[in-house]
Amino acid sequence: MAFVIDGKEAAASVISAVTEASASLEGKTGIKPGLAVIIVGEDPASHAYVNSKGKMAKQCGFNSIQHTLPEETTQEDLQALVDTLNADPAIHGILVQLPLPKHFDSDAIIQSILPEKDVDGLNIANAGKIATGDLETGLISCTPAGSMLLVKRVHGEDLSGLNAVVIGRSNLFGKPMGLLLLAANATVTMAHSRTKDLASVCRNADILVAAVGRAEMVKRDWVKPGATVIDVGINRVPAPEKGEGKTKLVGDVAFAEASEVAASITPVPGGVGPMTIAMLMANTVIAAHRACSLSVPKF
Ligand code: GUN
Repeated sequence: MAFVIDGKEAAASVISAVTEASASLEGKTGIKPGLAVIIVGEDPASHAYVNSKGKMAKQCGFNSIQHTLPEETTQEDLQALVDTLNADPAIHGILVQLPLPKHFDSDAIIQSILPEKDVDGLNIANAGKIATGDLETGLISCTPAGSMLLVKRVHGEDLSGLNAVVIGRSNLFGKPMGLLLLAANATVTMAHSRTKDLASVCRNADILVAAVGRAEMVKRDWVKPGATVIDVGINRVPAPEKGEGKTKLVGDVAFAEASEVAASITPVPGGVGPMTIAMLMANTVIAAHRACSLSVPKF
């Protein structure tokens, strides 16, 4: 049976380091890291995510601000809010929860966040730094950063000689994850829905990262014996065994069967999920340190 990588424990250790760094910053400068989260519309899952981000920010000692805007907000009004937050020196991190309602040009909004406040790491300046191998001066997208931290807990800093396969090629996750693995010297394949014989590509992976958004798609025979499996999927599926109408969360990997083959695997929930929020807090405290021209803590 595989070793189950405990994302909750890893996230708690990042949060404790962030809380310390935040207290030390406030001690030195009187400034608290400021995180502004914007949510537009009523989507309950997005509200649940945003609430937990706000709670965690407070727990870290941040100045946590939430802007909840109605579904019918215009592009201009949302843009005006981002512009105000960009200009506010008390705000070090800005996150616009995605997806935005359909009538928005999301990319225009995301790209308008100042790169130094872009704690989601989605601005082209931050994405470009990862692509050119600068992992020091920008902000790295939270879910790939958190997934990398889990990979490094298993394999150490240097992934030389290891084959890594990332399934999924989104800007939010797949592309930056592939680039971070590459920066750590892994030999990287970015696979996706048009990849031929995905199962056999995956079977070549010493590190297999699944981010496809399809419940339990990665089966036992996709996993190389002894591999490390990182499951980024969060899928809600019916769970009749828990009672009529009940649901549960599962990943993109068929956990029980993959665990029989893998050496290490992340569970869902309790794997990558908690790391995403922890790295958002880490990015905010890093942005606040930079704004005060102080040397930046490492996580
Ligand atoms: N919606 C789901 N995941 C994310 C994320 O990492 N950042 C933002 N801004 N929205 C999301």
